[in-house]
Amino acid sequence: MNTRRNFVALGTATLFTALTPRKGFTDDLVEETIQVSPEDTIGLIHPELHGQFAEHLGSCIYGGLWVGPASPIPNVNGFRKQAVEALRALGVPVLRWPGGCFADDYHWRDGIGPSERRPKTVNLHWGAYVEDNSFGTHEFVDLCRLIGAQPYIAGNVGTGSPREMRDWLEYCNYPAGSTLSDERLQNGAPDPFKVKYWGIGNELWGCGGNLSGDEYAERYRNFTTFLPKLGDTQPFYIACGPSKDNADWTQSYFAGLKSKRLPDGYTMHFYSNSKAVATRFTEEDMNAQFATFPHLEEAILHQRGLIDRFDPQKKVGLMVDEWGVWDKMVPEEEKAHGRLWQEITMRAGVSTALGLNVFHRQADKLVMCNVAQMVNVLDAMLLTEGDKCVRTPAYYAFELAKPHRGKTAVRATPQANPLALSTSASIKDTSLVVTVVNPKLGPFIRLRCHVPGSKVRRANANSLFHADLNACNTFNAPDTVVPHEISASTRGETITIELPPLSVTTIEAELAV
Ligand code: AHR
Repeated sequence: MNTRRNFVALGTATLFTALTPRKGFTDDLVEETIQVSPEDTIGLIHPELHGQFAEHLGSCIYGGLWVGPASPIPNVNGFRKQAVEALRALGVPVLRWPGGCFADDYHWRDGIGPSERRPKTVNLHWGAYVEDNSFGTHEFVDLCRLIGAQPYIAGNVGTGSPREMRDWLEYCNYPAGSTLSDERLQNGAPDPFKVKYWGIGNELWGCGGNLSGDEYAERYRNFTTFLPKLGDTQPFYIACGPSKDNADWTQSYFAGLKSKRLPDGYTMHFYSNSKAVATRFTEEDMNAQFATFPHLEEAILHQRGLIDRFDPQKKVGLMVDEWGVWDKMVPEEEKAHGRLWQEITMRAGVSTALGLNVFHRQADKLVMCNVAQMVNVLDAMLLTEGDKCVRTPAYYAFELAKPHRGKTAVRATPQANPLALSTSASIKDTSLVVTVVNPKLGPFIRLRCHVPGSKVRRANANSLFHADLNACNTFNAPDTVVPHEISASTRGETITIELPPLSVTTIEAELAV
């Protein structure tokens, strides 16, 4: 191993003008090369692979995103202003709502009409507390419009009926003239909501009703019979897939469809669980959580293969509409902030980036992925308390992945990879984007990114890193873990950067034509 001092003394180093801040790190430096092959294309990175999920759970909606128009907390029509600004800046492509488990006990009519007349209902799954339904379908669509996201509604199969879901679809999408569409107009929305994505229940193998795959297939056939295209929006039906890589569920569901219409989307859920409390991870805990991401990638490949047996033309889009880190909850924290609240640390930011890299690498097999969840729950982008709101390391992992959207994923391979670097790369015209996740606490890495056959005209790099794996953005120190621009030098077909330990780095390069 070269130390940084030896390395410079050897006189082989490119001169870095803005060396990565080294406070808290050792001087060690090792070398690694990755090769990016612009001609070796994988598939389009649909922006929807960077989707999100917001459930009526803990303080995700109430108190998090939604504070109400009368709140002293700065808000836009009742939506927390800081959250709207942060999410709009991130450009959330699609937002799934209202659950999760909550979806299969949600009745949409409870959330329309004058707020003061809406019923008070008990949230069965997440603590049996009472919700006033001040956040309903109109508020959800308004939020999507404010942040620029496409709405994705998860319908109620568990305690709902085909009629209830078909009425919800008509209320949202029928242009005008029917009683339901006119009711939408009376409630302040003359234009149809044009909701494209419709989930046919959630986790039907568990909280959605404890069904078997073939029982669910029967429900699926029945519900979708009554959900036609209304107005000019063709619905995209999303069927509930397995938890992780459960093959039995997938086989029995697809067999149970009995050759009737295949779903447009089929969604698996894959959480990266840990037995450790978010802020008290050891290196071992961290490595154990990171080790779940290869399983996620294997599960995507395996599930895709299972679906293809029933769908040789690959018309069904595979999705992962719940994913992210799920650490050990602390009861006192859940009491203070709501169910499934956990701190999001540097380590969680790296986990999130490992997931995003998997999705980019498997871009040809996936049409949508939604991180769980947007605010104050699990792998949250934002954490709030009173009038305060911070962007988490997970938010910044998404920000660093943003330049990949709409580009074509291409293969990128670390050469020896003893350091277990995770990479993803994409290209559009002459713009190349490479994200490298260094999951190790070890030394800095002098990383050469080689692009054979392409001269690199210029490159810049931004990196999220911190010497402490448990570091996080607190309300008093909200910028503890934020991306920094780091130096990137180019020579011929090679970009060179210094990759910090435990980091997420995105290089944006311009190739010569
Ligand atoms: O995201 C939290 C919960 O996890 C969801 O409600 C459910 O679908 C999953 O089990």
